[in-house]
Amino acid sequence: MKISVSILNEINNYKESIKKVNESKSDYIHLDIMDSSFTEKSSFIIDDFKNIEFDKKVDVHLMSNNLDKLIDEYSLFNPEIISFHYEVGNTRKYIEKIKEKGIKVGLAINPDTDLNEVKDYLNDIDILLIMSVIPGKGGQSYISSVTNKIKEAKKLQKEYRFLIEVDGGINDKTIKEISDFADIFVSGSYITNSSNYNEKIDNLKKC
Ligand code: DX5
Ligand code: ZN
Repeated sequence: MKISVSILNEINNYKESIKKVNESKSDYIHLDIMDSSFTEKSSFIIDDFKNIEFDKKVDVHLMSNNLDKLIDEYSLFNPEIISFHYEVGNTRKYIEKIKEKGIKVGLAINPDTDLNEVKDYLNDIDILLIMSVIPGKGGQSYISSVTNKIKEAKKLQKEYRFLIEVDGGINDKTIKEISDFADIFVSGSYITNSSNYNEKIDNLKKC
């Protein structure tokens, strides 16, 4: 079980939060990039990360329609994963674009997007990022109807090699129902609302 801490809720003091993630036992740091083209709000821009040191593998989650620009920008600091949304369209094009940069490709699907819609891509992606909240902000509640989709995706792992990442509303309670069916768990407010990130990460890993 890998943990990826989202700092979206810490946008007002994100430098401090990145430092805490660096010092924590988290496996990844999850950067939620929104430019209000795909979600209502905006979050970070690439300049926010100038001269920032990441000591964890960087897990970039692009919630934007401007993928050509953002994939070019965020590949510059060599993240482990760049995920983008199937709902933007042109999925094949963006899978290739990220692959060409030698970065792991994540395909994100919204809570109301059916697994069948992305079946054609499962052979070509490294991560299936299953949203368990509606993209746009931290601190939302886990959408429990997504649990079935996660279990379905787990079954498909027998045929394909993608990892399953779940994103949204993950805490020490909601993780219990899905801990056997996913590989990477994104957790934001459950961890960043606490002053002791490791205590919260331990709670998640115990489940
Ligand atoms: C929502 C983001 C998620 C969110 C997770 O659009 O993609 O990564 O920040 O934060 P919590 O765990 O608070 O739902
Ligand atoms: Zn995210």
